[in-house]
Amino acid sequence: MNPQPAKGRAGVLVLGIETSCDETAAAVVLREGPGQGRLLSNVVRSQWEQHRQFEGVVPEIAARAHVECLDDIVGEALAQAAADLPDLDGIAVTAGPGLIGGLMVGLTTAKALALACEKPLIAVNHLEAHALTVGLTEGLTPPYLLLLVSGGHTQLLLVHDVGRYTRLGTTIDDALGEAFDKTAKLLGLGFPGGPAVERMARGGNPQRFAFPRPMVDRDEPHFSFAGLKTAVRRQALQLVPLHEADIRDLCASFEAAVTDVVVDRCARAMQLAGAELGDAKHLVIAGGVAANQRLREALANLAEGRGFALHAPPIALCGDNAAMVAWAGAEHLVRGRTDSLDVPARARWPLDQSAEPILGAGRLGAKA
Ligand code: KG4
Ligand code: ZN
Repeated sequence: MNPQPAKGRAGVLVLGIETSCDETAAAVVLREGPGQGRLLSNVVRSQWEQHRQFEGVVPEIAARAHVECLDDIVGEALAQAAADLPDLDGIAVTAGPGLIGGLMVGLTTAKALALACEKPLIAVNHLEAHALTVGLTEGLTPPYLLLLVSGGHTQLLLVHDVGRYTRLGTTIDDALGEAFDKTAKLLGLGFPGGPAVERMARGGNPQRFAFPRPMVDRDEPHFSFAGLKTAVRRQALQLVPLHEADIRDLCASFEAAVTDVVVDRCARAMQLAGAELGDAKHLVIAGGVAANQRLREALANLAEGRGFALHAPPIALCGDNAAMVAWAGAEHLVRGRTDSLDVPARARWPLDQSAEPILGAGRLGAKA
């Protein structure tokens, strides 16, 4: 992948490790300056096959699967980057939020490597890694407005600087990815649900079912998806037995509803963030659901209409990966922020520590 040896390159060379949910990943990033990152390797092994029969991620199985392959994945990432452990300037690892068993696998491995090679350890917040990915992929530096949409989180954040975030909105029940996954499960589309629902929605009629648009027009840019999921279930039950065309129309109508909600909530956040952002009118989308094409197009239209530029990582870096962890780690390393070897794994780790927990705010400690 990268014929030029990593050794001797100018910049900060960081190995990233990600094991917070159902992807085991390692990557090597070279940070050459602010907004100047080079992805030298990016290895991701998904565990979908192990979890598919349970139609969701089983924490025990996830942790065990990370143990089984993490050493190989790290070796592969170093080899592809033509880097040896002594070449590294630091080792970054997701320390939370996420499934605690998996986090501990990654963190223990990173600590062992850091100790053995006498390298600094950087404990990375998984949400922050998603939030900063555009710095690696596009060279975009804060401030910007961020929509973080994944299997465990749905948040609108103001990214003031690396390490400084204000939460403007969050979900009061399900995360958006969770709503996609539950809809897929209901319709028998398998796991993970987001890509399956998106595939079925293509060619479906988004106007056939008038699903609710929860939270639209509310002042605070919060989200709610639980009612929408129930509406899809009710509609599906009325149609049973479901034909393929029904499933396509249900998926398309669901996708249209969530897209309308997200666009409305982002528009509200743009109003609120306007003064803070000044001329830096950038809307960034990140997290697994940012791979959704319809959502991307709708947000691109919204951004254009409001004088914002829309930024989204390439699809391969929307879902969980270690490139984003290595990059976030490098951002902290150059700012002199490293962690001691007794840093704990954290199942729950909000980006904006001062934000009020919202009543019923979904799987708060869950994966991102
Ligand atoms: O960030 P991510 O890879 O993992 C964490 O949650 O940390 O996000 C996974 C979520 C899942 O809920 C998955 O169904 C959703 O992202 N997703 C999508 C798409 N691809 C993945 N949702 C809608 N459309 C997609 N194309
Ligand atoms: Zn994630």
